[in-house]
Amino acid sequence: MPLAPSLLRPGLVHLFLARPEALLEAAPQHAAWLSTEERARAQAFRQPGDGARYRATRALVRGVLAGLTGQPAAQLDFVQRAHGRPALQPGPDGLDFNASRSHGLLALVVTSGASCGVDVEDVTRKADVLGVARAFAPEERAWLQGQSPEEARRHFFRLWTLKEATLKALGTGLSVSLGACAFQLATGESPRVRFGPAIKEAAADWAFTQLAPDSGHLVAVAVRRPLPVDFVVHGDAETCAAVAEAT
Ligand SMILES: CC(C)(COP(=O)(O)OP(=O)(O)OC[C@H]1O[C@@H](n2cnc3c(N)ncnc32)[C@H](O)[C@@H]1OP(=O)(O)O)[C@@H](O)C(=O)NCCC(=O)NCCS
Repeated sequence: MPLAPSLLRPGLVHLFLARPEALLEAAPQHAAWLSTEERARAQAFRQPGDGARYRATRALVRGVLAGLTGQPAAQLDFVQRAHGRPALQPGPDGLDFNASRSHGLLALVVTSGASCGVDVEDVTRKADVLGVARAFAPEERAWLQGQSPEEARRHFFRLWTLKEATLKALGTGLSVSLGACAFQLATGESPRVRFGPAIKEAAADWAFTQLAPDSGHLVAVAVRRPLPVDFVVHGDAETCAAVAEAT
């Protein structure tokens, strides 16, 4: 689907997924879009692959937002809000977006009139799940502790991505404790949230979705909604094609 400003509608939540190598190959013109600061940051990464994943994320954000706003990708200007949350300046009224990257998969969520957050995790990576879960809410810890190691690991990543997507939608990131929001997961139902006293939000105002685009990755999206929301997922091939067309 070619990107156009008409796709930005209240109630629609667009999730774009892309593999970093595929995106870099599909849109080599992205190299000319990066700001001086973005180029410097791309070069400063020390671990092999981190710089390329960062460049691919910038290509995804600039390419998709260029298509959705009708502005040239190189002319998009980003500012940092509190706790480092990026915003477009100036951007169309109500536009919000959030990006996340992991080994092997990038994600970008874009909304109109609703705050949004996204997290993508590589679920094959080593993690001391019960150790990290010590920072989760008591009911989440108790739920995980009653499970087999395989189930606990699977559910840990579900909880982790939902929490991080929510804290990114709020803009606080991990400056707020992972235990400040707690999720209940039931088969066949949307995740349900409980906010603790540190987060002054009503659970009924929030919508979530979670998907496993392949066996190695999990993605969660959190949206603070003024309206019922529909999630539209743009997979790797569609996202790469859309970014390839951006100028
Ligand atoms: C936001 C945060 C959770 C992202 O963590 P992560 O798992 O490493 O990274 P992800 O790939 O999911 O997301 C990174 C992207 O999130 C966005 N981001 C950065 N800060 C953000 C914030 N406060 N809220 C929402 N999104 C944010 C950026 O686009 C960033 O991409 P960039 O690194 O290319 O600029 C983490 O950076 C954080 O907690 N930041 C705030 C920390 C803070 O304020 N600390 C205060 C003292 S504790």
